[in-house]
Amino acid sequence: METRASGHQELDVADESAVLRALEGFGPSVVIHAAAYTDTAGCEGDPPRAFLVNGQGTRNVASACRRLGVPLVYISSNEVFDGRKGRPAEPYSEEDEPGPINVYGRSKLQGERHVQDLLADFYIVRTAWLYAHGGENFPAKVLRAAANGHPLRMVTDEVASPTWARELAQAIVKLLLYPTRPGQGSHAVGWPVPRHRPSAPYGIYHLTNGGSCSRYEWALKLLELLGLSVPVEAVTQDQFGHPSRKPAYSELANTRAASLGLVAQRAVWLKPQSGTTDSLSSGTPAASTFSMRSATSSAVSR
Ligand SMILES: NC(=O)c1ccc[n+]([C@@H]2O[C@H](COP(=O)([O-])OP(=O)(O)OC[C@H]3O[C@@H](n4cnc5c(N)ncnc54)[C@H](OP(=O)(O)O)[C@@H]3O)[C@@H](O)[C@H]2O)c1
Repeated sequence: METRASGHQELDVADESAVLRALEGFGPSVVIHAAAYTDTAGCEGDPPRAFLVNGQGTRNVASACRRLGVPLVYISSNEVFDGRKGRPAEPYSEEDEPGPINVYGRSKLQGERHVQDLLADFYIVRTAWLYAHGGENFPAKVLRAAANGHPLRMVTDEVASPTWARELAQAIVKLLLYPTRPGQGSHAVGWPVPRHRPSAPYGIYHLTNGGSCSRYEWALKLLELLGLSVPVEAVTQDQFGHPSRKPAYSELANTRAASLGLVAQRAVWLKPQSGTTDSLSSGTPAASTFSMRSATSSAVSR
């Protein structure tokens, strides 16, 4: 399978004609759209930019996919939910009604709506709390602060599922290459499945690692795994004072993917696989670890 990725410098998803030109040039058989304005505080302060990139930008990608007749994988977020189900309530399933409580979540949901309005052949993949060896992410921030000897303040009333980007990537590939069998139910792709064409039923999928924790609990776990002793103060979101209110409880049930046998929902973050803690502590990229940050919009070509 040949892949091609474009970063922000090469392609601005807010530029409709540039998106169409780029995708026409790639000639993809499937597009994975991961580009987004993800600074949640920035989104709160600049809603027009959030909706331009996450809403209109996603519309532009979906519209180009429609013109080219190719399926789209759109990476969405646990933050489309309001988080008011309450712990230990059931995690959110794909059927639960979204109700975002911050600008980032509303703009990601707008992206989802555009995808659903424009395409029949789509995967909306909602995930949460991604981490990988590179770029900026929660473990990296915690470990940097701990290494500098800074005491930590972590919220207890924001709970979700830490998800290793590599496992998300693997689950997406499984979704795309899932074998269709006769009698498996309604499906947009016939049998036999053409090479490199998506084959799991289209629609919304929740793809996260298993288990859930608060930011506070995750920070404690990371420090424990790395044998670091740093004081961690437990605070509420109100006390922390972040400009963007986060859903209190947004664990996602991977119901559809589990029913297809695509995910095991292991709590990898509790017992990281080889390469993750090493690479987090040393800053050395593990060659096999996938980073979402390195591929914001990917096209898998025919
Ligand atoms: N990280 C998480 O915990 C998490 C959880 C759930 C869902 N997601 C979703 O997963 C995807 C990847 O997230 P991430 O954490 O890897 O975020 P990230 O590190 O902020 O990556 C997003 C990328 O999108 C690029 N981008 C921003 N505006 C763009 C534009 N107008 N045109 C083209 N590219 C643009 C950014 O480039 P610049 O840096 O140059 O702006 C950046 O490279 C996003 O769709 C996000 O909503 C992330």
